[in-house]
Amino acid sequence: MHVLKVENIYKQYELGQVSTGTMAHDFNRWLHKIRGKEDPYHKITERNTRDEKGGSKFVWALDDISFDVHQGDVVGIIGRNGAGKSTLLKILSKVTSPTKGNIKIKGRIASLLEVGTGFHPDLSGRENIFLNGAILGMTKKEIHAKFDEIVAFSGVDKYIDTPVKRYSSGMYVRLAFSVAAHLEPEILIVDEVLAVGDAEFQRKCLGKMKEVSQQGRTVIFVSHNLVAVKSLCTKGIVMDQGKLVFSGSADEAVESYMNANASKVKPSTVFSSPDDAIGNEFIKIKSITVQPEKLFITDAIQLDFSFWNFTDELKFNVSFDVIDVFGEVVFGSGNEFSSINNVGSASCLIPSNLMNDGIYSIHVYVHTAGMRKLYDFMDIVSFEVFDKERNHAYYGKINGAVRPKLTWKEG
Ligand SMILES: Nc1ncnc2c1ncn2[C@@H]1O[C@H](COP(=O)(O)OP(=O)(O)OP(=O)(O)O)[C@@H](O)[C@H]1O
Ligand SMILES: [Mg+2]
Repeated sequence: MHVLKVENIYKQYELGQVSTGTMAHDFNRWLHKIRGKEDPYHKITERNTRDEKGGSKFVWALDDISFDVHQGDVVGIIGRNGAGKSTLLKILSKVTSPTKGNIKIKGRIASLLEVGTGFHPDLSGRENIFLNGAILGMTKKEIHAKFDEIVAFSGVDKYIDTPVKRYSSGMYVRLAFSVAAHLEPEILIVDEVLAVGDAEFQRKCLGKMKEVSQQGRTVIFVSHNLVAVKSLCTKGIVMDQGKLVFSGSADEAVESYMNANASKVKPSTVFSSPDDAIGNEFIKIKSITVQPEKLFITDAIQLDFSFWNFTDELKFNVSFDVIDVFGEVVFGSGNEFSSINNVGSASCLIPSNLMNDGIYSIHVYVHTAGMRKLYDFMDIVSFEVFDKERNHAYYGKINGAVRPKLTWKEG
């Protein structure tokens, strides 16, 4: 049975208008939504129909997307930064409307979108639980019955009567996820929770989503964590530049995504101005490069990072994961940096004789020093390591993503 049918969805945005970025605006937007008014921050369709483009740059965040979801499917949506994943989830959750196209939905949807949507900042955790339940059409009694479970899962019991605007982003996401997952929606939509929160909470979230799907509910899940997509999802969708480029099983989707990346090894990403750069209103990439350009197993690998920092924070935390062609994290590392005149730079050296030959991609995460997430950059650069003896990465390859130089002795 179809629970969701998306037919030829398009979404156009004006560039340079990226998200309001404040909880107050997002809340205002959401209030308008629940009151059934037009989103005050969403004037684009209107402008579009009048065709007054006057020199502005427009982007098709979604470009002719169609797919079906069946009851009990767990659908993983993957794709690079800016592919349109969050836009699609916002449209499915009715936080924003498509420029054109149709969506048919059967059942109640609970969604956990980007931090800042869904909760009223001035209300306490407790009040927000009841508010969200009411929006989902539950009675007070039904919400009461779930309340303890929601709080216990979130682990924020001590702060349950504190306004959520005082929560850290980790606490916020814990509670928001817990609410969305426990209020028994027919369809659970989750954007990128795994990018925030610690490893233990990530495991709990994955477990909970699995449980929800085993109850016959439908889950739609965006993640940069390809291993999680493979283990949790039954179906996979790959998006690229607003288009749906692959749809099939989760394993096939991850494979298709990794293959597409492997064919375009990109050892540097450099932007000359923040206007075109990847990122958001907090942080944007100035450059990320991998050196040397032609890389052998016996070379140390230098990673250079440089960001434009638009926050008031002088220190921030940059970490990265090295991902192999199967989507598995080979290792990760991170450090704290200062930014001077709003530019923060850092470099990191991966020792020689560590990576095996093959292609690796790098995911970069930027947090404030207090570990508030600013952005995560997926597959921002990638590099290929060659074996000097063979000078090619594919024939007679020794297994594994790492190939440390080991000492062998006879006898
Ligand atoms: N509110 C907005 N106003 C203008 N442009 C937007 C807005 N939201 C998204 N965009 C643009 O739409 C495109 C798709 O963005 P979207 O956030 O959906 O990507 P994503 O796949 O979720 O990326 P990420 O992996 O970085 O979260 C991007 O070019 C982005 O700049
Ligand atoms: Mg997104």
